[in-house]
Amino acid sequence: MSWTDDIHEELHEMEAQGLRRRLRTVDLLGGMRASVENKDCILFCTNNYLGLADHPHVLERSQKALFRYGASAQASRLVSGHLPIHQQLEEKTAAFKGSEACLAFPTGYMANLAAVSALVDEKDVILCDRLNHASLIDACRMSKAKFMVYEHLNLEDLKAQLEKTAKYRRRLVVTDGLFSMDGDLVPLLKLMELAHEYDALVMVDDAHGTGVLGPTGQGIIHHFPLKHFPAVVVGTYSKAIGSMGGFVCGSQLFIEYLLNKARTFIYTTGLPPSVCGASLGALEVMEQETSRVDKLWDNAKKIRVGLKALGYDIPRGAGPILPVMVGENEEALRMSKRLLEEGILIVAIRPPTVPKGTARLRLSVSAAHTDEDIVKLLDAFKKL
Ligand SMILES: Cc1ncc(COP(=O)(O)O)c(C=O)c1O
Repeated sequence: MSWTDDIHEELHEMEAQGLRRRLRTVDLLGGMRASVENKDCILFCTNNYLGLADHPHVLERSQKALFRYGASAQASRLVSGHLPIHQQLEEKTAAFKGSEACLAFPTGYMANLAAVSALVDEKDVILCDRLNHASLIDACRMSKAKFMVYEHLNLEDLKAQLEKTAKYRRRLVVTDGLFSMDGDLVPLLKLMELAHEYDALVMVDDAHGTGVLGPTGQGIIHHFPLKHFPAVVVGTYSKAIGSMGGFVCGSQLFIEYLLNKARTFIYTTGLPPSVCGASLGALEVMEQETSRVDKLWDNAKKIRVGLKALGYDIPRGAGPILPVMVGENEEALRMSKRLLEEGILIVAIRPPTVPKGTARLRLSVSAAHTDEDIVKLLDAFKKL
């Protein structure tokens, strides 16, 4: 068989299992509204948790940066692409997250690849939660360290693995903060205490906690009464911050090391100025309008309570990510299609993004959802 026959067959097999993915054009109409396949709908599947992606201040900041510096950074950061706006963004992010220093990357994915590879090599071992985000799993695989997986949020299992790995130079525990597909939260205080007992380093991916956790959205570190900052905290500008890019927060020394070592920083163009401007604008709004975080949690609570009352299976958890568990891929696709007919966009999440047999509708909430949107959502689920 030729290679094209091979891939044709593979796609066909995916189709048969309800696993084939297709692009769909989503025409954003402002706020949480969009038009999909000529149907107006409310978005309940974005990561725009605080509704900042089209906030007037964010747009103005972005536009100013665009006209001041142009469309591109024009070079990688270590050549001539480190503009004053990158410096401002990194300083602002470090202050916001409460870390000594910060380095920004074109994506959160790249920030994760950079951080893990800088922390460990072939002399070391990584202990990784089974349900960590794909970018963390890839980061662990691409580093040269031995890669071990512990059961999801199971600190007993983690402890057993820490016991077994004393011979390695460094042990790195890698975890999502707020898990992206399950919406549950790592017990970071206990995990850090355990890691400390075994002299292991901790790296947290705070992609979904940034803007969401902590009294004013600074993230997971401010949610728990931690005594120490983890070795590394990674985050993204692409979710609650409503823009694009990733960042690594840590000590001045580590950030200095990272910019000398990280291939996903050294060999790529700096973030576009307009994107840095948007992120800075969003961080400023977050400082000014702290009630957005409260609104987000209120909305999430209303939806969680409403869906449970309708009898839907929502695993225990808190916050704006609500997985409506379905099981079979085809059924999840069918439900998503029916919801769109009712004017609600929520996509079916299927393997390999989630384990086999756990297909779900991943519902995500925003502070920008109105009470009316929530009523429409619950009505649509009632009709399913
Ligand atoms: C937990 C987590 N980490 C990292 C990323 C990657 O972030 P980005 O989209 O900025 O590459 C994502 C999102 O896709 C995520 O959910």
